[in-house]
Amino acid sequence: MKEQLAKIRSEALAAFEGAKTSAELDALRIQYLGKKGELTAVLKQMGKLSAEERPAMGQLANEVRSALEAALEETGKKMEEIALQERLKAETIDVTIPGAVQKIGHKHPMYIALDEIKDIFIGMGFTVLDGPEVELAALNFDRLNAEEGHPSRDWSDTFYFDEDSRVMLRSQTSPMQVRAMDSMELPIRIIAPGRVYRKDEVDATHSPMFHQVEGMVIDKGITMSDLKGTLNTVIEKLYGEGTVTRFRPHHFPFTEPSCEMDIQCHKCGGKGCPTCKGEGWIEVLGAGMIHPNVLRMAGIDPDVYSGWAFGMGLERMAMGRFKIADLRLIFENDVRFLEQF
Ligand code: PHE
Repeated sequence: MKEQLAKIRSEALAAFEGAKTSAELDALRIQYLGKKGELTAVLKQMGKLSAEERPAMGQLANEVRSALEAALEETGKKMEEIALQERLKAETIDVTIPGAVQKIGHKHPMYIALDEIKDIFIGMGFTVLDGPEVELAALNFDRLNAEEGHPSRDWSDTFYFDEDSRVMLRSQTSPMQVRAMDSMELPIRIIAPGRVYRKDEVDATHSPMFHQVEGMVIDKGITMSDLKGTLNTVIEKLYGEGTVTRFRPHHFPFTEPSCEMDIQCHKCGGKGCPTCKGEGWIEVLGAGMIHPNVLRMAGIDPDVYSGWAFGMGLERMAMGRFKIADLRLIFENDVRFLEQF
């Protein structure tokens, strides 16, 4: 029996040593120390021993058990340690490898121009308003002194939602003048950028959807020279000092007098080129002194208050600001184009 115990001990220790995985080690623990294991089998024979032999043999068996348990524990720990080291090696992160570059979006040149325009007007004390693109014809036309029968109200010019022509996609940002007059205290200084819609065919300078920035000032003693001074200041801030503008007489139902403002062509400096269609000038906005009828309809006394308004084409402003030759580039959203700004 003594020899049997010694044999189990040396065999088991050698087997533990040779185990490669913790599963293998576990199997060996069951083989040697389990209920049906080899050591247990030997202990079962203790009954056959004499009373004198039993204590010494029992002690020996316990020693063997402790030795095997200690060896198991040590080998188990070693295996865990090795596994940990291997995992650390496999999961090493090399912080010096350049990261995978994520492509993120890019601000659209028209919105870069709009942000610059907003900044300039906010700096002059204007409030920025936002308004609906689906608008009442009453605000887009009637309240702006463009009565029934006015050519701009024609079905061939305007997107209506109903047979009665009461609801429409706004054809201009000018209804924001009315919304401001109806909701704000005087004096008023606002700009209102946004989309507008007209039944236009797409070409190098036209699109059925485009953007305008409306501007309006109403106070006591406001004159046409305030309009010119403000717009010239804005244009110089946007396009650089010394940018040349000109104001031409025009007609709008809601301003009197009315004008259009041109800026000298950035491409040819006024000589005439394809960008300005040989004119030397590019039209960027319509403007004028608010018509007394429009003030009156909003409950503002035109004998006490006066005001000016303008509506500028945002795409045209961006095209001038970034020297873009074709309007369609603004809407195509080709990243090769957008990334240039
Ligand atoms: N709403 C006019 C247009 O779309 C522009 C404009 C705005 C003219 C304000 C005068 C005053 O053409």
